[in-house]
Amino acid sequence: MHHQTSDIHNLNKTLKAYWNDVFKTLIPEVINKDDIKVSNPLDQALKDLGDSSETILDIGTGQGYCLFAAFLLGTKVTKGVGIDPSKNAIDFARETARLSDLMGLSFEEGDHTILQNMTNASFDGIICSNVLDVIPYQTSEELIHMMDNLLKPGGILLLKFNFYLTDELIKKLGMEAIEENTYRMNGILRGVNLTTEAWIKRFPGYELIRIEQYERVPNGPKDRVIMLKKQLCK
Ligand SMILES: C[S@@+](CC[C@H](N)C(=O)[O-])C[C@H]1O[C@@H](n2cnc3c(N)ncnc32)[C@H](O)[C@@H]1O
Repeated sequence: MHHQTSDIHNLNKTLKAYWNDVFKTLIPEVINKDDIKVSNPLDQALKDLGDSSETILDIGTGQGYCLFAAFLLGTKVTKGVGIDPSKNAIDFARETARLSDLMGLSFEEGDHTILQNMTNASFDGIICSNVLDVIPYQTSEELIHMMDNLLKPGGILLLKFNFYLTDELIKKLGMEAIEENTYRMNGILRGVNLTTEAWIKRFPGYELIRIEQYERVPNGPKDRVIMLKKQLCK
């Protein structure tokens, strides 16, 4: 059973306010290459993306970590664009880029719908880290469609998802089901819980080039990093 359009609108509104609040205390500071090390499979994937892509889009960039890392660790990026509905996150990322002289990077405030204003097939690489699994399923359907339009054939999609929620974790974290595979915590949608295989299935026309898992917290459950390559012709 799926939510009605008005429910989705309200869920997204609450979500955006929640994330904007998360980013409200950030203080921008200078970052440079030496500040970012490859210390997990996500960093390695960001480096590899930055070594192979001139243009990168980071959707739901938050404080911009993934885009900064791909730009600074990789050798090839000349243009990086980050978008996020959170004003606090975008202000932080913009100011960090300005202070750090990272001229090729720009940040735009807005949710996935602003992607409609961008030129089709204009990015070699797209990052979507921990976004598809924290928004309503129907919203992620729209987002997936839009990012597919923006990625060049042969381009790379770097997806990151939180750990799969077992029944034990659902109980331990105090998560509450709001529809099939969708959970909230403290009233906020925090997990669309699909297996890695089920996420990959949502990208027909893509070739799987990498799956990795790693413990974000030592001995904790494993986050998932997936790289997909858009086929040259579908
Ligand atoms: C878990 S955070 C991930 C931030 C960042 N990508 C990272 O990996 O650290 C989820 C982000 O998705 C953003 N977001 C929420 N709804 C969105 C939407 N409809 N379109 C794009 N981004 C969205 C939030 O503002 C938030 O910054």
